[in-house]
Amino acid sequence: MIKWFLFYLTFAILSACGSNDKSGSGDKVNFDAIESNPVYFKGHRLVERYQCETCHKVDEDLTGPAHSKVAKKYAGADESAKKGLAKKIIDGGSGVWGNVPMTPHPNVSEEDAKAMVDYILLLQ
Ligand code: HEC
Repeated sequence: MIKWFLFYLTFAILSACGSNDKSGSGDKVNFDAIESNPVYFKGHRLVERYQCETCHKVDEDLTGPAHSKVAKKYAGADESAKKGLAKKIIDGGSGVWGNVPMTPHPNVSEEDAKAMVDYILLLQ
């Protein structure tokens, strides 16, 4: 009887550990908590539309830093810091994460850039 209980307990613990791992690469972003957030939904759609994913993944560095790292660096950013990030997306630039520059995105409106910043900062 006890054996079965332990078996069940182990199983329950193992499945609890696996539940947040939606990307399949062991990231720590808690998608369950943010996926239903309209800010996440909108920003994620824009990031797809503007093809930011050619240089940024959520949890791994590509040409650009992982967006979850960006979120950690700017955790608690105020409005002016967020505006600065939005401007950087539009104007491009380098020097914060290394020497590789982010290309400018003149086709991105300020409003869309801000929405993407709000989304990225959720990915902590
Ligand atoms: C051509 C590759 C490339 C593309 C496309 C790209 N990025 Fe970047 N991004 C970078 C690089 C490289 C950096 C690091 C720049 C630095 O070190 O200052 C960066 C940095 C950032 C940062 C952090 C800026 C900072 O000052 O810390 C944010 C936020 C960001 N990108 C968002 C986006 C968004 C949103 C898009 C889509 C509109 C996008 N990026 C598209 C390469 C890219």
